[in-house]
Amino acid sequence: MPTVVSGIRSTGNLHLGNYFGAVKNFIEMQHHFDTYFFIADLHSLTTHPVPHHLFGNVKQVLAEYLACGIDPEKATVFIQSDVPEVSELYLLMNMNAYLGELERTTSFKDKARQQPDNVNAGLLTYPVLMAADIIIHKAHLVPVGKDQEQNLEMARTFARRFNRMYNVDLFPIPRPYVFEGQDMVKIPGLDGSGKMGKSEGNAVSLADSPHEIRKKVMKAVTDSGPTEPNQQKPEVIQNLFTLLDVVSKPDVVAHFDLQYNNCSIRYGDLKKQLAEDIIHFTAPIREKIEMLLADDQYLSKVAKLGAEKARASASKTLLEVREVIGVKKFY
Ligand code: TRP
Repeated sequence: MPTVVSGIRSTGNLHLGNYFGAVKNFIEMQHHFDTYFFIADLHSLTTHPVPHHLFGNVKQVLAEYLACGIDPEKATVFIQSDVPEVSELYLLMNMNAYLGELERTTSFKDKARQQPDNVNAGLLTYPVLMAADIIIHKAHLVPVGKDQEQNLEMARTFARRFNRMYNVDLFPIPRPYVFEGQDMVKIPGLDGSGKMGKSEGNAVSLADSPHEIRKKVMKAVTDSGPTEPNQQKPEVIQNLFTLLDVVSKPDVVAHFDLQYNNCSIRYGDLKKQLAEDIIHFTAPIREKIEMLLADDQYLSKVAKLGAEKARASASKTLLEVREVIGVKKFY
């Protein structure tokens, strides 16, 4: 069975875009592949988070993914820092990662621009740690969005380079599993500018309270309304309809569609309905998140089980790597 590895940034607060994107795919994949889903807390250190924020975010992300339906009995769900083998492989892989290629990485250049006072070596070697995450489980497939394609390409390069350098066939070359396919709905943000994203500030989080959801949706960008019957909807309006499409009943969508087409639509009414339907949609997930966040015992059980499974796989690979490189024990 092919192995799948994916890292989840520990920034917390999944939004509707994540839900209908990555998360839906993870949940599907756990039934068909040997899946490893981990929370990349070490990667987060590149931005120097406050310690209790770092830990709080890891907990939040863990609870949110479980609430969405990632099943720790099926998938291996773990925290990156619980698997020290990854850090050792990262060190070893750093020896074959070259300054030039790391400096040319787009994500490094972006980050260096965003945080000019903190251009640390961890930022530079971010793709090496990511490669270690992936190849330590001998992954065949890595589900990634557009923004991570280059990092995955580097993981492929490092895996290939290692195999060639030592003339072994130790690492499979991981392939991207791109899920931005035909039947994927791209969830737009509330600002009319395109995709929903946490950093864009246009997102509705799964953990948002009904009050927050209403506030955000009522502020969504619209235009001055249709001026002639059956005109094509501009992007800002189409975005709201796309959101309705995923959370509302078909007759609700049809109702507003008709009103748009005969120019009687009142965007306030549409937004009110949209907000209520999002609230209805996210309620069970939000309740589950809250329940999990209050259950430290369960979360620690999940993290421990995941760490054990991940370490079993990781330590096996690491032993092979050490052997190949010539790092051997005298005892
Ligand atoms: N860099 C990824 C992101 O920011 C997270 C990540 C870390 C990852 N290690 C990974 C993703 C390994 C896939 C595989 O989204």
